[in-house]
Amino acid sequence: MKMLVTGGLGFIGSHTVVELQNEGYEVVIIDNCSNSSPDVLDRITNITGKKPIFEKIDLREKDKVQDFFSRHTDVEGVIHFAASKAVGESVENPLLYYENNISTLVYILQELQKKNTANFIFSSSCTVYGQADELPITENAPVKVAESPYGNTKQIGEEIIKDTCKVTPNVKAIALRYFNPIGAHPTAEIGELPIGVPQNLVPFITQTAIGMREQLSVFGNDYPTKDGTCIRDYIHVVDLAKAHVSALQRLVNDKNKENYEVFNVGTGTGSTVLEVIQSFEKVAQQKLKHQIVERRPGDITAAYADTTKANNELEWKAQSSLDEALASAWKWEQKVRN
Ligand code: WQD
Repeated sequence: MKMLVTGGLGFIGSHTVVELQNEGYEVVIIDNCSNSSPDVLDRITNITGKKPIFEKIDLREKDKVQDFFSRHTDVEGVIHFAASKAVGESVENPLLYYENNISTLVYILQELQKKNTANFIFSSSCTVYGQADELPITENAPVKVAESPYGNTKQIGEEIIKDTCKVTPNVKAIALRYFNPIGAHPTAEIGELPIGVPQNLVPFITQTAIGMREQLSVFGNDYPTKDGTCIRDYIHVVDLAKAHVSALQRLVNDKNKENYEVFNVGTGTGSTVLEVIQSFEKVAQQKLKHQIVERRPGDITAAYADTTKANNELEWKAQSSLDEALASAWKWEQKVRN
């Protein structure tokens, strides 16, 4: 069975390609390499022994999207990762985000609607909840007004898919709302490759530990949490990748209850920034230089998932601990820099 993975050379996309191949799927990747490297293709092949088909296409070019689907009529499912995802950049350049994250989704859905049958998995984010009123966060938690154009594109994307599924019963879709993906494949063949100064916590930690950064700035310790620093649900990227395969299999095997469903994908455990630092210091067996600074605008206090629905209906549960995820991130950083 052939699956299309858009953004399949990226951080989460590449790990998902590996898990799809491990499950026997034939994979075709579309990526424009704007935020990923073509050598990831060889790295995926090194892990699985199977080289995915790859086509360098910019999904903003509608005719190229149409041409792709006219040549790959045997694609039976799409996992759609391709999108811009830097919160801060989206505030500075909203139209880049609305064009890249929304028009590309529409072009793909138009092709699936034409095929009138498809299984579609959408990369969404817990950012749609903003600061939830209740923790842990269930899928019934209200979607809040987005804090950034990036978050807004995820909310709009979900609405577009929901409306499409309403009028196209044979297109089945699942939106996966990720919490905080971290870590790398245990082989250290693939992992997170942030371009420039990392915005996210864990790559900044590993780059500090390897000596690329002077020290980690902890954005605020005056939040109403156990140690004053923010709480997040850090999920190993391989666990997250496996959730995509489980979601796809739910659709392929017609186990879905509606033709549009939403699942939170996290570990169900929240960790503060200081707890992440302590965990890293333990697994790396070295101190991490850090300082407390002002809060980062837009940060919420706490977010961690209620994973009951995903555990029960996707028959999926995150397996890796925070320590294991951080150890894999550290192994990856050391390999990439040596
Ligand atoms: C985590 C915690 C920071 C960096 C974002 C997006 C979300 C998703 C994941 C794409 C926060 C603190 C961070 C640093 C710090 N992206 N921190 N010093 O903001 O929870 O989520 O990335 O889907 O949509 O919003 O992740 O890793 O940036 O921050 O103290 O140098 O670490 O304040 O509390 P975030 P993050």
